[in-house]
Amino acid sequence: MLRLRWICSLVLGAFSVVAIDSHTTYTCDSPIYCKGDLLHTVQMARIFSDSKTFVDMPTSKSEAQVLQNFQALGGVNATKEQVQQFLNENFLKAGTEVKLLPNITIPPLRWIDNVTDPDYRGWISHLNEAWANLTFTFDTSDLCEDCSSSILPVKRPFVVPGGRFREFYYWDSYFVIKGLLLSDQVEMARNMILNFFDFVETYGFIPNGARIYYLNRSQPPFLTQMVQEFWEKTGDRDFMTQALPHLEKEYAHWMTNASISVPDPENPHKKYKLNHYVTLNTSPRPESYVEDYNTVNNGTDFTDAEKDQMYADIAAGAETGFDYSSRWVKQKYPAADQKENYEMLRTIHTSEIVPIDLNSLLWNTESMLAEWFTEFGENTRETKKKAAYYQTQAKKRLDAIERLMWNEDDYNFYDYNLTDNSQNKDFTPANLFPLWLGAIPPRILNDKKILSHVYDEAENALRKYPGILTTSYYNTTMQWDWPNGWPPLSYVAMEGMLRVDKYLNNDKKNYTTSHGTSIYRLSHNLAERYAASAYCGWYNTGGSIPGLLEKIENVSDDGHMFEKFDVNTIGVSGSQGEYVSQTGFGWTNGIALWIFNTFTNMTAPDCTQTITLSI
Ligand SMILES: *[C@@H]1O[C@H](CO)[C@@H](O)[C@H](O)[C@H]1NC(C)=O
Ligand SMILES: *[C@@H]1O[C@H](CO)[C@@H](O)[C@H](O)[C@H]1NC(C)=O
Ligand SMILES: *[C@@H]1O[C@H](CO)[C@@H](O)[C@H](O)[C@H]1NC(C)=O
Ligand SMILES: *[C@@H]1O[C@H](CO)[C@@H](O)[C@H](O)[C@H]1NC(C)=O
Ligand SMILES: *[C@@H]1O[C@H](CO)[C@@H](O)[C@H](O)[C@H]1NC(C)=O
Ligand SMILES: *[C@@H]1O[C@H](CO)[C@@H](O)[C@H](O)[C@H]1NC(C)=O
Ligand SMILES: *[C@@H]1O[C@H](CO)[C@@H](O)[C@H](O)[C@H]1NC(C)=O
Ligand SMILES: *[C@@H]1O[C@H](CO)[C@@H](O)[C@H](O)[C@H]1NC(C)=O
Ligand SMILES: *[C@@H]1O[C@H](CO)[C@@H](O)[C@H](O)[C@H]1NC(C)=O
Ligand SMILES: *[C@@H]1O[C@H](CO)[C@@H](O)[C@H](O)[C@H]1NC(C)=O
Ligand SMILES: *[C@@H]1O[C@H](CO)[C@@H](O)[C@H](O)[C@H]1NC(C)=O
Ligand SMILES: *[C@@H]1O[C@H](CO)[C@@H](O)[C@H](O)[C@H]1NC(C)=O
Repeated sequence: MLRLRWICSLVLGAFSVVAIDSHTTYTCDSPIYCKGDLLHTVQMARIFSDSKTFVDMPTSKSEAQVLQNFQALGGVNATKEQVQQFLNENFLKAGTEVKLLPNITIPPLRWIDNVTDPDYRGWISHLNEAWANLTFTFDTSDLCEDCSSSILPVKRPFVVPGGRFREFYYWDSYFVIKGLLLSDQVEMARNMILNFFDFVETYGFIPNGARIYYLNRSQPPFLTQMVQEFWEKTGDRDFMTQALPHLEKEYAHWMTNASISVPDPENPHKKYKLNHYVTLNTSPRPESYVEDYNTVNNGTDFTDAEKDQMYADIAAGAETGFDYSSRWVKQKYPAADQKENYEMLRTIHTSEIVPIDLNSLLWNTESMLAEWFTEFGENTRETKKKAAYYQTQAKKRLDAIERLMWNEDDYNFYDYNLTDNSQNKDFTPANLFPLWLGAIPPRILNDKKILSHVYDEAENALRKYPGILTTSYYNTTMQWDWPNGWPPLSYVAMEGMLRVDKYLNNDKKNYTTSHGTSIYRLSHNLAERYAASAYCGWYNTGGSIPGLLEKIENVSDDGHMFEKFDVNTIGVSGSQGEYVSQTGFGWTNGIALWIFNTFTNMTAPDCTQTITLSI
């Protein structure tokens, strides 16, 4: 720990805020990275297969010089060769401003001996060491004094997801922090949370990720959860006192910029205040420029107003974390004459959907602020008033969730659709967020017969496919749909199941699902599937443990941790979507550590065989 503290202060000293600031423009008005002819021309020339590559390339000259050179090489009329030459002469390699933090000492896992299976034990120890490969700082020392870059600088180091995600992300970081705390990397977890506090103060909210082109949108608000994990691990009261104003400010952003008044379907005079994802954006996302431009412009005559709305809903779709998904589009099946996958995305109406996961997270913020102002506030009239205010906010939201989003026939919570004022009765693990966070109306909490069925549909999904929990039942070719399963969603399911099971069975009556399964068993089974999916994915791509597990033949790589999985086959990566599947991978690793800390007695499968892990 001492060593880590030391490294952090070293980093602080070496790259002060001021030094980084001098290279960066804060609002997304950059004529290179955010909008204008240069961005359009370079992106549409399709030099790189991933649109994100260009906007992550710092300039090697001043902004004015780069713009001038662009004009000199033909501007909007430049040929592909000229664009390539322009890039060579005016830009550095993507990610030049992000540097691996050198010489980190990773403490060994204190609980590793509790993991009974030797192969799993070796693999998890190895994963713990992988944090060193994902821990970075921003360092603009390779850039000239007036060069431009798209990074949003921070003072402290951070852990990134990996692959094309070279910078840190908002909701990803929660699952990373969860893993870091289990790895006794308390200072690194603190650094990451403090970076987010700084973001709240600088921008008024937490951007999607640490790049200027993410300044128009946030991501699922997990800051409260991060703070809660940190508190549970450290019991650091000073930290909690420090956290309160930042949490309040972030909450205010969601209420000011992204709340909506929803009329009761049977009594339109009664209104509920809930939140949705919404952005002010009206142009292609710079990091997915070609994709968005084609989605909106290729071949169909939309009015300018329709195009603006589509751009806004596409950016809001990225804000949801589920980018992209049947949850946000009207058309969930391909038309008979469909030519391009993005045709379904054109029916996107993100801001018309009131998401159950978002509202559960904000309910949790309200509840925790009520509790924390009581516990860590100064016990003044002011803090008592605040505690009471957040208490009321939480109660109002829970009433709205019960009235609009709970479905007693299905024992499910659902997203609410403002287009027809009704629930979207589709299965997605987002529906499980209230159970995980405890956003459960008292009437349901007090009726254990009802509560015993809340994971029935999740169990159906697990019985349908052998892998981790599917993201939906739709094949839209979007990456947050079947056949992909995502680590954070399975985590929310698993931990929620443990919490609900504990509450249900505190009177030892052995409540079960409709299938007669104990909810604890469901959680354990999903954990086994998750472990096997990640472990075999790693093994199949060349992972090995010296003296324990031999490397597969003819694979040159050293084992990859996937960002998502194929629920149809254990050990296979997920696919589809806007970019190729990434490896690394922050949340996959963090959640694997949680699983082995929670369920120590699992058996590593033989990855060369077909794996079936029945409930
Ligand atoms: C691009 O070409 C068009 C048509 O030849 C011309 O009118 C325009 O001035 C050119 N733009 C630039 C920046 O050279
Ligand atoms: C990291 O360790 C290497 C080898 O021990 C050493 O040469 C280097 O100076 C260290 N770097 C830093 C930044 O401490
Ligand atoms: C290991 O397991 C034992 C028995 O369940 C438990 O008491 C102990 O706390 C665990 N150790 C760690 C470091 O988690
Ligand atoms: C870290 O990266 C190096 C270099 O790519 C690789 O050889 C090593 O296996 C990685 N370590 C872990 C624990 O993944
Ligand atoms: C939030 O709303 C304010 C006031 O309308 C606006 O100035 C600001 O840009 C918005 N922020 C975001 C991230 O949309
Ligand atoms: C994004 O937000 C910034 C700052 O609020 C604003 O100046 C800019 O116009 C927005 N960009 C787009 C593409 O809407
Ligand atoms: C645009 O649409 C046409 C007709 O469907 C198709 O042939 C073409 O490939 C599309 N282009 C892009 C870039 O998607
Ligand atoms: C919302 O309701 C409308 C009207 O019934 C429907 O067309 C649309 O598909 C629904 N949206 C989603 C995301 O399911
Ligand atoms: C999903 O649908 C696409 C066509 O829309 C098809 O090409 C693909 O094979 C389907 N995926 C699976 C896993 O069936
Ligand atoms: C619950 O299960 C345990 C273990 O199987 C059993 O001993 C106990 O009698 C059961 N309790 C009830 C109320 O069925
Ligand atoms: C590995 O490559 C060698 C040489 O190409 C080949 O003879 C062997 O069958 C391959 N092994 C496997 C398991 O594919
Ligand atoms: C661990 O699992 C094995 C095999 O399923 C079982 O035999 C053993 O009793 C379990 N041990 C504990 C401590 O639960």
